[in-house]
Amino acid sequence: MSARHSDKQRQPGERGGRNAHPLSWREASRSGSGPDDPDALPIIEPFRIKSVEPLQKTTRQERMWYLEQCQRNLFLLPASAVLIDLLTDSGTGAMSSEQWSALMRGDESYAGAKSYQRFNVAVQEVMDMPHVIPTHQGRAAEGLLFGLLLREGDVVPNNTHFDTTRANVEAMGAVALDLPCEELADTASNAPFKGDMDLKALEMTLENKSQRVPLVMMTITNNAGGGQPASMENLRAVRALCDKHSVPFYIDACRFAENAGLQRLRDPDLADRSIAELVHEVFALADGCTMSAKKDGLVNIGGFLALRDQDLAEAARSAMVVTEGFPTYGGLAGRDLEAMAKGLHEVIDEDYLDYRVASIRYVCERLDARGVPVVRPFGGHAIFLDAARFLPHLPRGHYPGQALAIELYAEGGIRSCEIGSVMLGQVNPETGEEIPAAQELVRLAIPRRTYTQSHMDYVIEIVCKVWEQRESIRGVFIQDAPPVLRHFGAHFQPLLDS
Ligand code: F0G
Repeated sequence: MSARHSDKQRQPGERGGRNAHPLSWREASRSGSGPDDPDALPIIEPFRIKSVEPLQKTTRQERMWYLEQCQRNLFLLPASAVLIDLLTDSGTGAMSSEQWSALMRGDESYAGAKSYQRFNVAVQEVMDMPHVIPTHQGRAAEGLLFGLLLREGDVVPNNTHFDTTRANVEAMGAVALDLPCEELADTASNAPFKGDMDLKALEMTLENKSQRVPLVMMTITNNAGGGQPASMENLRAVRALCDKHSVPFYIDACRFAENAGLQRLRDPDLADRSIAELVHEVFALADGCTMSAKKDGLVNIGGFLALRDQDLAEAARSAMVVTEGFPTYGGLAGRDLEAMAKGLHEVIDEDYLDYRVASIRYVCERLDARGVPVVRPFGGHAIFLDAARFLPHLPRGHYPGQALAIELYAEGGIRSCEIGSVMLGQVNPETGEEIPAAQELVRLAIPRRTYTQSHMDYVIEIVCKVWEQRESIRGVFIQDAPPVLRHFGAHFQPLLDS
């Protein structure tokens, strides 16, 4: 892994809320007064391990039995049957010793807890949003926001809605409209900002007076679309269009720090900016955000809604008491708020983000070099396999993503997640016919600060083994499934003739 650092003109102490004194070896090197060039060295995990959790190995025969038991839905597998769990990067990361010690400071007062004040200050410092409402996780923040802003028949444009975001929009009877940029469709292209919104399509949507658009949303990074970042330029342009049409602009901020890390890496105009500055600039463009702190909040549970509009914030606070809890704890314990406050600062630490981006790139580059169809360029939180290109002999209706995810588990005990027609396919309400998703992807989401490089080397070898055997992989059909968010509960059976 080779590093890329362009922060040579940055002043020490300007970065990620760190102290200016004393200069670290690395900061001294970057400012030209240090002994050596750190850029020549590989990027290592910027932590050491203090507490370990054993992994459980299984035999292939056991895994086949588990697959039968869970009817080939990996969400229904017991975690103890999984060796490397890449189902999600949500709430699965490791907390730092600072976070664990902050838990003891948790103030569990029902109202006005000190922990809420500290959490509030952290969000102000990192995102600079005036009204902060904690929620138990991201989807609760979505439910609150959409509950206040949406009416039946409204349209919500987004670069790509993630599953729960779509479900929350649709629960209000509104239409979740995905408007990704054109480059996203070509998983082999190296376009740097495939998380961008299609600006022309957005403009047409906003100009269409026959529909009401109460908000525009951007998901950073674009999770369903491969963890691809949105560029600063595109975010500014979306803001400008929203201003022109007097529509508020919201950010689904789950992976805001990874988005900033990739922006800096891929946009030469941003190469000398600190992550903290880029994050501020992005949020300055928005009227508010929904946040799942289970991702870039570096915690196991938590989220929030942050808003600029005071009246809307008051309405959200009144609404949430019914379902989430009092507005200063929002369904969380005081200790959870403490962990989030720390996590929001740790996630914009430059060394952490360098490592995070490098560790995803490490896997992607090795798979790519061995011919495995990975989504390019590498994203911020996961490796995405293009199942349509991996298993070209399977038609879309045979769910190639699900078939591949099953095989990765059978071969090596790796749990991944289909992000294709099982998760995002839709049913035409008139004909009952299934409309496939835009892409058939399998996501290997990397939990933060959890697995080491040797775990990733194992993952690379298993994926390559499955790649070598790809022609023998068969498709699946859905035997039964719940009506909403069907991927969580669907049962699959193998197809014998695919
Ligand atoms: N928005 C995005 C872009 C997400 O990726 C998620 C969750 C949410 C909203 C909802 O947040 O889980 O805290 O309620 N994504 C997880 C995943 C589940 O696996 O990608 P939540």
